[in-house]
Amino acid sequence: MNEFISLSTQLHLLFVIVLVVLIGINLYLLKKDTGFVRLSKKLELIAPQYYIVLSAIFFTGIIMMAVTQFAFHIGVWVMIFVWIFILFFGIKGHRRYKKMDKKDEVSQSNYKAFAIKKYTIDLVLVVASTLFAYAVH
Ligand code: HEM
Repeated sequence: MNEFISLSTQLHLLFVIVLVVLIGINLYLLKKDTGFVRLSKKLELIAPQYYIVLSAIFFTGIIMMAVTQFAFHIGVWVMIFVWIFILFFGIKGHRRYKKMDKKDEVSQSNYKAFAIKKYTIDLVLVVASTLFAYAVH
């Protein structure tokens, strides 16, 4: 049982690390000065991976909840809140991306500024909730 618990934790953490890497790639692409068409193609390629990894974090989190016999502590509530926040603003960002005028430079730079802010907030929240989970454990 102990091995199962540590394997579940490792998997959960592995997906958290993959999420951080994807946030880093997104931020790098957004800050690199390339044309918007090339940038949007790359962002569209990464977007599905982001949500696949988020769902993997959710499912491994559910396994962790089962193996820890649903012993909720404040760290777990924070993780769930952060997860919902990232998903909710991800959907909002996606809708904003679909609606924007991709040929207009003002819309392009507005979207870029929004996306940089969104991924920076995601990064801060993921790192903060990870540190908090270890602090309260
Ligand atoms: C992006 C969001 C998330 C991050 C950054 C995150 C991070 C972490 C970390 C670092 C740990 C290990 C902490 C420790 O061993 O004390 C952990 C454990 C855990 N996570 Fe998450 N997690 C996230 C989302 C979730 C979600 C959505 C759930 C539930 C559906 C969840 C459920 C759990 C549970 C139950 C544990 C075990 C806690 C314990 O051992 O007491 N996590 N998570």
